[in-house]
Amino acid sequence: MANATADPTANPLTLGTPRALLPQPCVLVIFGAAGDLAWRKLLPAVYNVNVDGLLPSNFAIVGFGIGSQGDPDAWLRDRARDGIEHFSRQKLDEGHWADFARALFYVEGSFDDASAYDRLKAKLEEVDGQFGIPGSRIFYLSIPPQMIELSVDRLKAAGMVRPADEATAYTRVIVEKPIGRDLDSARNIIAAGAHAFDEAQTYRIDHYLGKETVQNLLVLRFANSIFEPLWNQKYIDHVQITVAEEEGLSQYDGKTGELKASRIGYFEGIGNLRDMVQNHLLQVLCMTAMEPPWSLRPDVVRDAKSAVLRCLRPIAEGDVDTAVVRAQYTRGEVAGHEVPSYKQEVADYFKKARKPAPDPITTETFVAMRVFIDNWRWAGVPFYLRTGKRMPKRSSEVAIQFKDVPNILFNQHPDVPLEPTVLSLQIQPEEGLSLRISSKLPGPKVRIYPVKMDFNYGTSFGGSTPEAYERLILDVMAGDHTLFMRRDAVEVAWEFVMPVLDHWESQGLEAIPEYRAGTWGPAEADALIEADGRQWRAL
Ligand code: BG6
Repeated sequence: MANATADPTANPLTLGTPRALLPQPCVLVIFGAAGDLAWRKLLPAVYNVNVDGLLPSNFAIVGFGIGSQGDPDAWLRDRARDGIEHFSRQKLDEGHWADFARALFYVEGSFDDASAYDRLKAKLEEVDGQFGIPGSRIFYLSIPPQMIELSVDRLKAAGMVRPADEATAYTRVIVEKPIGRDLDSARNIIAAGAHAFDEAQTYRIDHYLGKETVQNLLVLRFANSIFEPLWNQKYIDHVQITVAEEEGLSQYDGKTGELKASRIGYFEGIGNLRDMVQNHLLQVLCMTAMEPPWSLRPDVVRDAKSAVLRCLRPIAEGDVDTAVVRAQYTRGEVAGHEVPSYKQEVADYFKKARKPAPDPITTETFVAMRVFIDNWRWAGVPFYLRTGKRMPKRSSEVAIQFKDVPNILFNQHPDVPLEPTVLSLQIQPEEGLSLRISSKLPGPKVRIYPVKMDFNYGTSFGGSTPEAYERLILDVMAGDHTLFMRRDAVEVAWEFVMPVLDHWESQGLEAIPEYRAGTWGPAEADALIEADGRQWRAL
């Protein structure tokens, strides 16, 4: 069996697993391959793993959907090349590109057209023959949630789904978020997927779980002896999880000021609680707070994570206003550029779409909240979560703040307290960790100053860190579920946020708190944490 010392590139999360989890030959079938995700993330991700030599040689991609022009295969190749040129981690290399491009195909067809599925099936069989693929398929459903049931049913009717226990010619499905807009719709999506696919064939993506630092949380905690003894309510004062984004929901042409691209069509009426907290932040919270799993088998790790969600203290509707803050950005300046308010972005989007804009516009682009995990380890330790769009910079981290030292020796003066020890795990843009500790300033007097011990992935390991989607697609090809959301976790996460959503809806407010774009959020968020005698970390 491999061990981390023998092979520094081995995936620690697969050590001790019963099978050698290697990517197996298959066709990756991308539903919605003409969309934004495929262009920006999926095609560049597969290109990168191909460059890194991690793909089996019996592999091809078939895109499916509408929107191609001219020869469909040539169209997808052009689109993939454009996506790679703009977004790839590694620069496009003509040699690798030629190898990659020959395995790209496209089938034009509407998701509700049964005959399109027959054409897809015929194309897949042709590609199987050309690349020596044994009939294994991964269907990546990068499509709006309301299309899932239809697509899954059509796939099944066309005879393209093999049973879960067929190992050599496997069929797997990847489901993208959003998995619902509330608990009921999430259950419907999960049930729709189950029309054709077993849970064992289903991989629900939360791409935050594919980020290196998020995975490194487990290695840090369970591969070092010094952290775990301190990782509990005895030593930890509180935890802050921040995901700050610089981007808003729309992009404008720098010269003409015209709306270029917008996610308002998806985001308006959804908001950051659903878009970021219900999935990404809660998953990061689980990785931070979970108990040591008794093995690294996928379901054992997923059980340990789900247990955290089950221990979250429910927020009673009456407590929402003191535990959760929502807000929306107004116009401001980000990275030296004037940016419009969220409301303006909504107005511009609906004007362009020639549809009436909603009124009032109360969708939140920022959420801050205080949550508790009611178990033995975390009793009484607040976890503060904060996420917002149009913040001053892209910066995400998990910060573990340790308890103050006693008010004796060096910490005797209440007006100049010692800075607490903080372990911060930077998720992005730089990946790494740093430990802030108190140290004596050189000199004859005892003067104490906080210093940082830093570890940075880039400088320590060199090269660029793989994108989350690279890792996650390889995991599906290897049949490794560890970093994917099991249905119970999706449901429990929705159960946790539902009282907040219900309360906000019942309030029916005409306006919500605001923050200027390019700032760290509204005054209400500061008040939330200051009410506990604490402060948000400056990032
Ligand atoms: C997506 C959200 O899941 O994650 C987006 O829908 C958000 O609104 C994005 O911008 C953030 O991902 P990352 O990897 O850029 O931090």
